[in-house]
Amino acid sequence: MACYFRRAIASQLSKILGPAEENFLPLILAIPVSKKHHSPDFRLSVSSLVENGWIQPDRSVQAQTELLAKQLKCDSLLDEIHLNQGGIHFKFNRKLLAERVLQQVLKDGPYFGVKSQLFSLCKMKKVVVEFSSPNIAKKFHAGHLRSTIIGNFIANLKGALGHSVTRINYLGDWGLQFGLLGIGFQEFGSEEKLKSNPLQHLFDVYVQVNKTAEKDENIKKSAQEFFRRLETGDVQALSLWQHFRKISIEEYERIYKRLGIHFEEYSGESLYQKSSQTVLDQLEKQGLLKKTKEGVGVVDLSVARDMTSCATLVRSNGTSLYLTRDLAAAIDRMDRFNFDEMIYVTDKGQQNHFTQMFQILKAMGHTWAEHLYHVPFGIVQGMKTRKGDVVFLEDVLDEARSRMLQNMSISKTTKNLDDPEETAEDVGTSAIIIQDFKGPLLSDYKFEWDRILQSQGDTGVFLQYTHARLCRYDEVLFQSSKNLQPRHLVNFLLMLCRLAAVAHKTLPVKNSPQELAQARLQLFKGTCTVLANGMRLLGIKPVIKM
Ligand code: ARG
Repeated sequence: MACYFRRAIASQLSKILGPAEENFLPLILAIPVSKKHHSPDFRLSVSSLVENGWIQPDRSVQAQTELLAKQLKCDSLLDEIHLNQGGIHFKFNRKLLAERVLQQVLKDGPYFGVKSQLFSLCKMKKVVVEFSSPNIAKKFHAGHLRSTIIGNFIANLKGALGHSVTRINYLGDWGLQFGLLGIGFQEFGSEEKLKSNPLQHLFDVYVQVNKTAEKDENIKKSAQEFFRRLETGDVQALSLWQHFRKISIEEYERIYKRLGIHFEEYSGESLYQKSSQTVLDQLEKQGLLKKTKEGVGVVDLSVARDMTSCATLVRSNGTSLYLTRDLAAAIDRMDRFNFDEMIYVTDKGQQNHFTQMFQILKAMGHTWAEHLYHVPFGIVQGMKTRKGDVVFLEDVLDEARSRMLQNMSISKTTKNLDDPEETAEDVGTSAIIIQDFKGPLLSDYKFEWDRILQSQGDTGVFLQYTHARLCRYDEVLFQSSKNLQPRHLVNFLLMLCRLAAVAHKTLPVKNSPQELAQARLQLFKGTCTVLANGMRLLGIKPVIKM
């Protein structure tokens, strides 16, 4: 919105001084909102006018500035223009701003803030966001949950800024675990259980076969043999693996849907077996791949090139590693998507992995590796459900829903709902997300259901509560109109007062950046209107001062 006012000033300057509006736009700077009641909104410094040659740098600078300030005229947009030390200050028409903002909110609806002029100045980019990326047959732990919601946020944000986004889920779908799973399924598997609860069943089989393998060397050997069959393309082994993978993805999709999350692509480590060999050949050709005494293939990443810091890319038996496959995957994605940037979201434990990976790609001459980013996040401790440790994403969602449902059933303010389960799920999930996003992503935190699901304070429940209540003004009126009882409206207004009081504390207007401050001001103005309208209905005259 500020763009609009800025342009009005630039237009006047252009008429007076000559150069086109665009030249002045960057010089009109927003002033942070201060404690002073009458603080201006924008300033134009004399020095910037002098630097650009629009004011002559002689003794008459002050006189020239005064003249310019006189030539600039207040209009429907600008309330005040005055000369101040070092510059000209502008204050724009508050009422018009409020109108414009509210008009824009109403017009743009869900797109408000998305289609801003500010963003149209940025170049549209192709962005790949890789997130969630669980490992088939293993636990979907809190780290995967964080990756899922953080990655989704980043992808949403990029999309809102007008970029084109590709969301990739890079599954852990390869490795010895599939050798064990293959053997384990023959031993303890059930096609029926696999159908009814695939993730649980694969996990159970994996746990069981692991236990057995610890004691039984033969099982270990057969697992290795099964994995070798996979690596050499044995049709039977591959078809079982494919079956596990497909059924798992279908299940993941169903659960992501509960969170409103989707992926353009389910990829995975398995896809990069062959191409990691190509990467190794390339590195070899470039003289970057070294063999250690133990026969391990490494890339030297130390500054002094003395092998004090190496990244391993091939095991002594010739097989590739997680890092090797990631190199191949990045190159493949560049080939297919020609992205402008790619973002990986994982816990901070993998920081070193990504640093090494980006370094190697750069060493290989892939200049685009400059545009790879790793967004690391901290560890969550103690994420448990009533049943015990969290094993699957679905456990967390179910737990959030059932706890929220319980809270709703004992809360006096809960309304009659068409689908309480759905509401409980949405509110419960928002509680998890808000708790997770409140601090810096890199911080660790302790997961406590009771704290997360509190209805007061800075929680997702409170956020939802506020939103829901603010959406219901007309419904409250309708309710009152049905049985002609004023209490519905009174309770609504009093509740709105409580919310406004909290908002007053948590959303300061003072000292906030200009645009944020303005937006908050609008929020309070909107609240004020609703209160006043409601009071008038009740037969109360709203007072301005008391
Ligand atoms: N599956 C991995 C894990 O669970 C995360 C994958 C992250 N992405 C990547 N390109 N390495 O730890």
